[in-house]
Amino acid sequence: MSVLLTNIGELVTNDPAHGGSGPDLAGGEGFAPDGIGIVPDAAVVIEEGRIAWTGPASSAPAADDVVDLAGRCVLPGFVDSHSHTVFAGDRAAEFAARMTGEPYTGGGIATTVAATRAASEDDLRARGRALVREMLAQGTTTVEIKSGYGQDIATEARTLRIARELTPETTYLGAHTVPAEYADDRAGYIDLVTGPMLAACAPHARWVDVFCEPAAPTAFDEDEVRAVLLAGLRAGLGARVHGNQLAAGPGVRLAVEVGAASVDHCTHLTDADVDALAASWSGAGSGGPGAARFADAGSDYVRPADVGPGSGRLADVGPGAGFGTVATLLPAVEFSTRSPYPDARRLLAAGVPVALATDCNPGSGYSSSMPFVVALAVREMRMSPAGALWSATAGGAAALRRDDVGHLGVGARADLTVLDAPSHTYLSYRPGVPLIHQVWQSGTRAV
Ligand code: NIG
Ligand code: FE
Repeated sequence: MSVLLTNIGELVTNDPAHGGSGPDLAGGEGFAPDGIGIVPDAAVVIEEGRIAWTGPASSAPAADDVVDLAGRCVLPGFVDSHSHTVFAGDRAAEFAARMTGEPYTGGGIATTVAATRAASEDDLRARGRALVREMLAQGTTTVEIKSGYGQDIATEARTLRIARELTPETTYLGAHTVPAEYADDRAGYIDLVTGPMLAACAPHARWVDVFCEPAAPTAFDEDEVRAVLLAGLRAGLGARVHGNQLAAGPGVRLAVEVGAASVDHCTHLTDADVDALAASWSGAGSGGPGAARFADAGSDYVRPADVGPGSGRLADVGPGAGFGTVATLLPAVEFSTRSPYPDARRLLAAGVPVALATDCNPGSGYSSSMPFVVALAVREMRMSPAGALWSATAGGAAALRRDDVGHLGVGARADLTVLDAPSHTYLSYRPGVPLIHQVWQSGTRAV
C-alpha cells in the first residue's frame, strides 16, 4: 500500500540529496540557505510507513492512494528531544508569582514531586497521554520524556513505565533534585540514584540525565553529576545533561567528558564550554565513554561502531549520526522564567549543532508547542527560520542520536507535518496561529 502526497507548495526534507546539508557549522553565520533541502512544487511517496520517494510533483511515480495538499508546506515532524510530561499537580501560582517578580530557582520541583508521588498510576498515565496528544496536534512526532518527579524507587520506575508506553525515548532523571528526606544526606541520595533506583529504572529507560546546577542548592555538583552519569553509562544507558541553566558551571564540560548526546539549556556558557562542544564534533574531543554507548540495538538507531567519535559534520553521515554533544536550547523556559535567552548564533558559529526542544514541564516552562519554540528561536535568539526549523527536526534527532527521524530522506520514518501555509517561514511569521493542518506518523495520518 503506497500513498502519494502531492501538490506540496514547499517540501522541507533536510535531505542532502536535495541540498539539505544542515547548518554550515564552520561558516560563521551558521546556516546555508539550502541547508534544509527545500523542494518546491513537490510530492512524497510513502510505502510501509517509510519515505519511498521525494521530488518534483511533475515527475512523481504512481501510488495506490493520492492526497492533494493544495499548495501547502510539508515538514519533517518535529523532534522534541526534551520534555517532562509525566507528572501530577499544578504550579500556575508559581508562574504568576514569577511574572510579578519572583526568580526561578528550581525549588518548586518539590511541589511536583509531592503531587506525583500521591497520584494514581491511571491519573499519571492519562495526563501523560493527554500531553503527548497535545504535542502531536502541534506537529511533534517524536518526543523524549524524563522521569524526575518521583525521586523514590517506586515513583521513578512508575513514571518511566508510563513514559515507555508513550515513546521509546525515555530518560531516567532520578537526580533531578535531592528530595527533602535526603536533605541532610546527599551522599545517601546519590547512592540510591546510582544503585537500587537505577536498577529499577534502567529497564524502562534509554537515557540517564541529571540536573547539574551547583548554584541551585537542591541540584547536583560536579562530583555528584559525574557519579550519576557514569553509573547510568555502566547500566547501558546513553547520557544527557541539564546544564548551565541558571549560571555557568561544570555541566557542559561534564557532558562532553562522558560523551553525552546532548547538554540541555546552555543558557550561561563560557568560551571554554563552547570550545569543548565544538571539539566534540571536530574530532579534537575524547568522545568519552558515552560516545559509543547505546542501550537499544534496533535498526532505527545509529550504530556507534560504524563511525568514530568526532567523525565529522552531521552532513557527512546523515541527520542524527556523529558522536559529538549537541547543544539543546529550550527558549520556552527563558520565556516562562523571564530570563536572558541562550546565544544560539555563538554556538552555530563555533561549529556546534543546536537542537530546539520544549522542556515541557509544570515549573520552568509549560508549553508543549514546537511551533512556539521555533518562533521564539527566530524572534528572540536570531536564528534564521530555516536554521530554527532544522534544529527543531534534524537537530532534535541528532540530540537523540536517531537517523530515522528529523528528515524526509528515502528510508526515513514517514513522520510529517502539513502546514496550512505556503512555506516554513510562516511558523515564525504567524506565531501563535494554529497552522498545523495534518500530521502523519509512520505513514499513517494521526491528525
Ligand atoms: O528542565 N532544570 C531542571 N528541571 C526542569 C524544571 C523542572 C521544574 O521546575 O519542575 C527544567 O527546566
Ligand atoms: Fe528539563
